Amino acid sequence: MHLFNLDDEHKDKAYQILASLVAPRPIAWTTTIGDEGTVNAAPFSFFNLFGTRPPVVVIAPGDKEPGIPKDTARNIRENGEFVIHLLDEPLMEAMNATSATKGYGDSELEGLGLTMAACDHLRVPRIEEAPVALECREHSTLRIGKNRLVVGQVHRVWARNDLFDPESLRFRQENYAPIARMGSPDWYARTSDLIALGRPD
Ligand SMILES: Cc1cc2nc3c(=O)[nH]c(=O)nc-3n(C[C@H](O)[C@H](O)[C@H](O)COP(=O)(O)O)c2cc1C
Repeated sequence: MHLFNLDDEHKDKAYQILASLVAPRPIAWTTTIGDEGTVNAAPFSFFNLFGTRPPVVVIAPGDKEPGIPKDTARNIRENGEFVIHLLDEPLMEAMNATSATKGYGDSELEGLGLTMAACDHLRVPRIEEAPVALECREHSTLRIGKNRLVVGQVHRVWARNDLFDPESLRFRQENYAPIARMGSPDWYARTSDLIALGRPD
């Protein structure tokens, strides 16, 4: 086995090592709104669902510089609103394009041909083409070094019509194949090859 010491000689390699090994990760394609009304979008794979009573998610935008938040974290700090979208393969290129570093107030969504739709509970718009959108409000933010763990409560869930049976609300797994983040720097996984495994009694 290879041993990495993240306290010492491999301290600067923690991202390459851990972001490659702790995978696959879901991708939170996140929209927020700035004080002048600009809609910001960016993907975050340091993301997951952490509970449902109440429904809680975390995204972790790392600071640009110590104490200087990325635009997503800055907007959430200012107005507390964000929308997390889950995405499938046709949206990968657009998602990736929104990871470009732009000046505060310049929208990453320009020229991508995406449709902004109104949310039910928030001022921030959602991306209509995404199969899933979670309307979230900031619960709290934990700062650890350059990491900002934004804890959000999910208030509304938008799901594409084919994802749930309209009457029984049974989830149709066969229609859902979100893309997942794999090893650094550029790997992704499809989730279309599934296995079912029942729980023991
Ligand atoms: C698939 C993917 C996942 C990413 N995950 C993260 C992440 O978890 N945390 C982070 O700080 N940056 C992450 N990034 C980089 C951000 O998306 C990028 O820094 C972006 O410009 C931030 O935008 P903002 O300043 O508008 O918030 C990721 C990029 C990609 C393509």
